[in-house]
Amino acid sequence: MQISNDIRYIGVDDHKIDLFEGQYVVPLGMAYNSYVIFDEKIAVMDTVDRNFTHEWLDNIASVLGTRKPDYLVVQHMEPDHSANIVNFMNAYPQAKIVASDKAFKMMLNFFGTDFADRKIVVGEGDTLTLGKHNLTFITAPMVHWPEVLMTYDSTDKVLFSADGFGKFGANDVEDPEGWACEARRYYFGIVGKYGAQVQAVLKKAAKLDIETICPLHGPVLNENLGYYLNLYDIWSSYGIESDGIVIAYTSVYGNTKKAVDTLASELKKRGCPKVVVTDLARDDMFEAVEDAFRYGRLVLATTTYNADIFPFMRTFITHLTERGYQKRTIAFMENGSWAPQATKVMKSMFEKSKDITFAENTVKIISSLNDESKAQIQALAQELCSDYEQRNQETASKNDMTALFKIGYGLYVVTTNDGTKDNGCIVNTVTQLTDSPLRVAVNINKTNYTYHVVHKTGILNVNCLSQEAPFKVFENFGFQSGRNVDKFVDCEGEIPRTDNGLVFLPRYINAVMSLKVIDEVDLGSHGMFICEVTEARVMSNVETMTYSYYQSNVKPKPKTEGKKGYVCKICGYVHECDELPDNFVCPLCKHGAADFEPLN
Ligand code: FEO
Repeated sequence: MQISNDIRYIGVDDHKIDLFEGQYVVPLGMAYNSYVIFDEKIAVMDTVDRNFTHEWLDNIASVLGTRKPDYLVVQHMEPDHSANIVNFMNAYPQAKIVASDKAFKMMLNFFGTDFADRKIVVGEGDTLTLGKHNLTFITAPMVHWPEVLMTYDSTDKVLFSADGFGKFGANDVEDPEGWACEARRYYFGIVGKYGAQVQAVLKKAAKLDIETICPLHGPVLNENLGYYLNLYDIWSSYGIESDGIVIAYTSVYGNTKKAVDTLASELKKRGCPKVVVTDLARDDMFEAVEDAFRYGRLVLATTTYNADIFPFMRTFITHLTERGYQKRTIAFMENGSWAPQATKVMKSMFEKSKDITFAENTVKIISSLNDESKAQIQALAQELCSDYEQRNQETASKNDMTALFKIGYGLYVVTTNDGTKDNGCIVNTVTQLTDSPLRVAVNINKTNYTYHVVHKTGILNVNCLSQEAPFKVFENFGFQSGRNVDKFVDCEGEIPRTDNGLVFLPRYINAVMSLKVIDEVDLGSHGMFICEVTEARVMSNVETMTYSYYQSNVKPKPKTEGKKGYVCKICGYVHECDELPDNFVCPLCKHGAADFEPLN
């Protein structure tokens, strides 16, 4: 096979292999690629598996004719590529080996020699000139062994990518699923743990003008390279490639399977674009690993077994965690007839995994499905599919005003003075309207004393709360009225002031702005003050406190256990009752019934 004018393919296909690397099934066989670069000097790129010595040496002899190779470039020492180094060196005693220092150390261990008088050691950026072809070596440690080199031929714009961009499957059969499926299974099975190292190599590759990628397994890639590079970028950054949910399960007598089938059907009903169900005892484990990395949501369903979990599930989770499983949502379904604890065990196995979100709902099956576990399946399906449902015109809830909280609201303390005392209140609507002239809008509820003061005095300070602000700041400025209390009474020492004479918070803010009102728009419940900025100070680079950060990290979790009633979403106050009256006002923060939600 001709790769370019000067580059020929001399690899072999293996259809006898049972398990690649001793564990991966390869129903379409395996290719061990090798290449020859013709020039004034001739370079052979890597050798092949030990079962193909003569076929490969014949391939070399056949393409070389009367010529002899000058170099054997060894990019990777794993035996599927290095097994014939000694045979090559014996067949071509004039040839030299080009490899990394680490590769030569491995040769000593594998073969008892590092070919000391015939070796050329190369590292990052080193070059080898064959004539018009100039090879540049790129170190690619842990893609997928530490000694790995990739090689760039700038003349033909070819990247020899070692194991990178490889796939399962021989080259003499067409893969009915295309390139990505078996390349993905190969990637996550073999290189998945080393995402950071793959990212480092991709950054180096981005600086090269590449027209062809020649990997050590699978087809040569010479069209639409952006497609392959993009997939490698997603995979190595642990990104989510496809929308959908994977359910990986084990089932001993079929009851867990029944629950899994029920969940799968619910997920589909709720618009999940793809539901992958895999039986870890019977299906290919590494297909399941591949899918777990491909999709963003994973449901694990298994039984409690020997006070642990079913062995196939333990193996599966280990495969995930040792490959750096991260940035995903995981949900659990457990089955146990007397002491179910599979959820606890499975969850603990992800303790060291980064950026994992556990679903709030879990499914607990006691021997077989009942009404309670069926309801849990419904709740889990709803949780996992909420965004899919909202994408769908038919199932979307189109009047959910909590969408407004998704706007990047900061939280601010507006400080004022009514002529007798300093005051402040929390607001969440401060917006820069224009740049030149600089105009800022501040909305304040008309029932707040602060509104009254600003309306009267025409000046205010906006204190931008940082993420360091504790809950007591919100209690002080948000849950009581400045008409009745002095909110600065507890401040120690002199309270700082801006040039307009108004106070600002000595701590917990990242900026303060002094504003002068130039217009007011009556919005009914609120007044919108259009202001010019008379002073602006930045206190720190700590991130601004947003509404969502406050909800997740600052507001104490309300103690709701065993209680029945409603909880205030603003301050966490719990009101125990059967029905919350429409005119109810939170005794803590003074927000109305609309800001309450029922306790589960
Ligand atoms: Fe294809 Fe890492 O050997």
